[in-house]
Amino acid sequence: MKKRVMIAAVAIAGCIGLAGCGAGTSGSTETTESKQSETTQEQASVIDYMVLVNKENPLPDKWEDEVSLTKYTNSLGDEVLTESRAYDAYLELKKDLEAEGIHVDLDSAYRSIEAQKEIVEDFTKKYGETYVQQYVAVPGYSEHHTGLALDLYLNVDGKDVYYNEDMVKYPEIWEKIHAKLAEHGFILRYLEGKESITGFNYEPWHIRYLDDPEVAKEITEKGITLEEYLGILPKTDVTPPKE
Ligand code: DAL
Ligand code: ZN
Repeated sequence: MKKRVMIAAVAIAGCIGLAGCGAGTSGSTETTESKQSETTQEQASVIDYMVLVNKENPLPDKWEDEVSLTKYTNSLGDEVLTESRAYDAYLELKKDLEAEGIHVDLDSAYRSIEAQKEIVEDFTKKYGETYVQQYVAVPGYSEHHTGLALDLYLNVDGKDVYYNEDMVKYPEIWEKIHAKLAEHGFILRYLEGKESITGFNYEPWHIRYLDDPEVAKEITEKGITLEEYLGILPKTDVTPPKE
């Protein structure tokens, strides 16, 4: 059912991102489908796991050249690419949740700018422009371009639940999922009541990998956004429109 094919990026160059993470040397990218265990060791990734991508901060240049992505096929048969360390952390989170009888799967993680354009078009047709402004980033400004943002979906009583309007019917399940995020290096990205800072409505399914569980714990315990933690608040009014 669930299949994992590894795409490894080895000897990655420089540090890409806003917060900065030190200099690196230039290197090359290699693709393999077999060296899964070695890959985790080799991909000493120098991308900035604290990178801020939001309505005012686009995906940094060259990010997509440098990021190491792991390919996975979900229960719906969709291929999902995720930044490799984020994917490993997701698997640990998933295992942890399964021990509590909670079943999640990956709906979407890395998205190209082209893929984001298609989502904007599809969602505009299906839900309208207001909804899109509340829930969908402008291509080039989506955290999904980093591969570090993951959209989960649920499996409840053996049935996959993946439409946004259905997923919100399970707040008690999301609460249990959210309680487990930080120890695996994730935060909930779009918090209720923080729309004027994040620019988006509450999304219980959208989690963000930060690589460092201590940082994730601090952000979660303080109930703050990544913007607040980094001290990079919006300069304009990014509040999504109301209904
Ligand atoms: N749903 C988030 C905001 C995105 O489209 O990137
Ligand atoms: Zn998302």
